[in-house]
Amino acid sequence: MAGAIAYISRDTDGVAWRKVLEAGLGPIDFRTLDTIGDKKDVEVALAWKPAPGLLATFPNLKMIVSLGMGVDHLLADDKLPTQIPITRIMDDGLVGQMSEYAIYWALRHHREIDTYAASQRAKAWKPEDFVDTIHRRIGVMGLGSIGQDTATKFAALGFPTAGWSRTAKTVANVETFHGADGFAKFLARTDILVDVLPLTRDTRGIMDAKAFATLPKGAYFINMARGGHVVDEALLAALESGHISGAALDVFNVEPLPADHPYWTHPKVHVTPHIAGATNPRTASPGVVDNIKRLRAGQPLIHRVDPKTGY
Ligand code: GLV
Repeated sequence: MAGAIAYISRDTDGVAWRKVLEAGLGPIDFRTLDTIGDKKDVEVALAWKPAPGLLATFPNLKMIVSLGMGVDHLLADDKLPTQIPITRIMDDGLVGQMSEYAIYWALRHHREIDTYAASQRAKAWKPEDFVDTIHRRIGVMGLGSIGQDTATKFAALGFPTAGWSRTAKTVANVETFHGADGFAKFLARTDILVDVLPLTRDTRGIMDAKAFATLPKGAYFINMARGGHVVDEALLAALESGHISGAALDVFNVEPLPADHPYWTHPKVHVTPHIAGATNPRTASPGVVDNIKRLRAGQPLIHRVDPKTGY
């Protein structure tokens, strides 16, 4: 039998991954952290938040697969064997969940649902002023597969939609900005900001006091990317001053979000526990199966990660 496939994650018991990989590859030597056995046998590591240094201890490892679309959890390991190809899952199911998450919070803000919920509690029949869809500008930071799907769906709903990315990109029906020069222009025209950037050296802390101040007064912030993008004190100050009207946050600098963190009870903040997009082995496995077949046939891998850019 070919080399072993190790499931390196404590999130689940790995049974679902084992099933979908067997369906695609036939009988496999599948190991988990508890049944890892001789590390020399392991050829492929499917990893989510591996313990730092662990991946470097498999002497015959030939491919690392990130079980998340984000790979910062791997690149944070300074012993990561970067000479071994790193690939990541591409999961249409996860992409769809992410865009749903953004659309849900954007519409909830756009249609003032929280204001109406408060009116209901007060038994107040009180129609609010509203902003036309064609005047509510959505901005999506990050134009990879998730950002493009999200931006395209907002545009289809009739919102003027823009996207920002590190390098220039073209997306149908979406105005695009790029690079450091484009960032301030992008923020200044954005009423609802959706963050789907990867976490890299360049994006850590990108949402600082200056970035929040560049957004128009009353802007809303949706973060479904990584908490490390946000300088929390800056966001809290912008919420306090009213410059930012609210935020829906799925990701945090420290996860789980500590019990004493002000976000938990902030009246303008919605907190969800990193659930915007969950990897589903059923939708994520075809690319992984394909890559394991390619690896074994000596063919070029797909969905490669460049450790230098961080995505
Ligand atoms: C989840 O956060 C992912 O990176 O897929």
